[in-house]
Parts: sequence; structure tokens; C-alpha cells
Amino acid sequence: MDNILKQTVEILRKSNYTIAFTGAGISVESGIPPFRGEHGLWNKYNPEVLDLGYYLDHAEECWVYIREIFYDFFADAHPNPAHLVLAEMEQKGLLKSVITQNIDNLHIEAGNKVVHEFHGNSKKLKCLKCGKVYAANEFDFKNIPPRCKIDNEILKPDFIFFGEGIPANAYSNSFADAEKAEVCIIIGSTGEVTPASYVPRTAKQAGATIIEINPEESSFTHAVTDIHLKGKASEIMTKLAKELF
Ligand code: APR
Repeated sequence: MDNILKQTVEILRKSNYTIAFTGAGISVESGIPPFRGEHGLWNKYNPEVLDLGYYLDHAEECWVYIREIFYDFFADAHPNPAHLVLAEMEQKGLLKSVITQNIDNLHIEAGNKVVHEFHGNSKKLKCLKCGKVYAANEFDFKNIPPRCKIDNEILKPDFIFFGEGIPANAYSNSFADAEKAEVCIIIGSTGEVTPASYVPRTAKQAGATIIEINPEESSFTHAVTDIHLKGKASEIMTKLAKELF
């Protein structure tokens, strides 16, 4: 194992408060495309379908794309080794929490218990009229849009749209953890979306060591990253796990 990985393992072993900040890149090897980059979803779909204002006036039209992007693609995605290593790190007391921008539920399915879902979760649907929350798998997505069983309102996926506020608990828990972090592992994020991208920056300002896992550079790399492990999430995390556990 090369020196940079050895150095990273030592840092992780010594840390009393390690957090992980994850983006779409950690789920690419589970078959979920990223939003940006060569095969990014925003190259194929107009992000407007996830603009809250547009959605509220065009829910039926947006649901055609929402189903294709978030329910067809995500349907049979499963945690990959990168997700599983983070779960094992938590079990072994080497990780305090995962702060994720992802809405694919894969960290929870991998077994992590403390997951702050900064952008919500696609596995839940919410009625904006009466507030009732449903499990997405209660609905057959052949007939869209799904409607509330109480007032027949079109249901909205319980993840945040552009122009929508961050879930309050996820927001406060994420920044509280960032303030306490001794190490923050950033996995698979361009860092282009705020306020999520302020989380690793807050950790850095609070004195944390920033480890970044990404085959490319990101807006974090030259701003906050101390150690950039260039590569795919599952490959790097598997190598780290071999020495860490
Ligand atoms: N392993 C690790 N990182 C990877 C891999 C991989 N196998 N494949 C791609 N990446 C990296 C890319 O280099 C890129 O930096 O993952 C990142 C994906 O970037 P984005 O698609 O912008 O994902 P993210 O940063 O999570 O986007 C933030 O934007 O559209 C919104 O709400 C959406 O949560 C999302 C937010």
C-alpha cells in the first residue's frame, strides 16, 4: 500500500471524531449516474424539472422525468463497497456520522445508523397539502403522478428541489458534526452545490484534516483538501479497509 494510503490510515486510526461527506460519486458504482461531469444527469435532463416553483405549476409534467431519473434508475441500485466500508467504520467506532447529499438511501441500506440526509430521501413521498408522508414503494409508478390517499393531492418526493430549504434537523446536525470533526472524508462530490458544500469547509475551519476521494479534482481539492486520494470510491475505500480493520 503506498505511503499516502498509509498516512491516511494512521490519521483515521488516531481521530476521535471522523465524519464522511458524500456526493453522487459514491453511488456511481451502484449504477446511479452523477449529476455533473461526462455522464451527468444534467447533461440529459433540464434541472428545471426539479425547480420547486416550476414543479408546483407543472407537477404532472415533472413527474415523468422524476420517475425516470429517481425511480427507474435508482430502483435496483444497491450499496457498493464504499458504502459498506463506511458502515463498518461506524460499527467499529471509526466514524461518527455520514452527511450525504444523496437521496438514494444507500447509506442506510448499507447499515449506517447516523446519516444526515442533507437533501432528503427519494424513498419517501410527501403530501404538501396535509403533510402525510408515504413510503415510495406503496405506489406503482406505472401510474403517475402518485396522489395522496387522503386528499388526492399530487405527492412530492421527500427530497429537496432547487429553491427549497434544507431539512432543519439535517442542516443543524451536519454543521454541529462538522464543527466537532477531527477528520472529514469527502467522497464523490464536485462541491458545486451550497449550502451542502459549506459542511467540509466548516470542518476545515474548525481544524479538521480533509481527506478527499475522487478520480477528478473538485472545488474542494485546492481549497480545503489535505489528502486527495485520486480514484474510484469503492477501490480506495476497499484499500483503506484492508489496513484499517
Ligand atoms: N468514485 C468517486 N467519485 C466519483 C466517481 C467514483 N466512482 N465517479 C464520479 N465521481 C465524482 C465526480 O468526479 C464528481 O466530482 O463524483 C462527483 C459527482 O459530482 P456531482 O454529480 O456534482 O454530485 P454532487 O457533488 O453530489 O452534487 C451535489 O447537486 O444536483 C444537485 O442535489 C443534487 O445532491 C446533488 C448536488
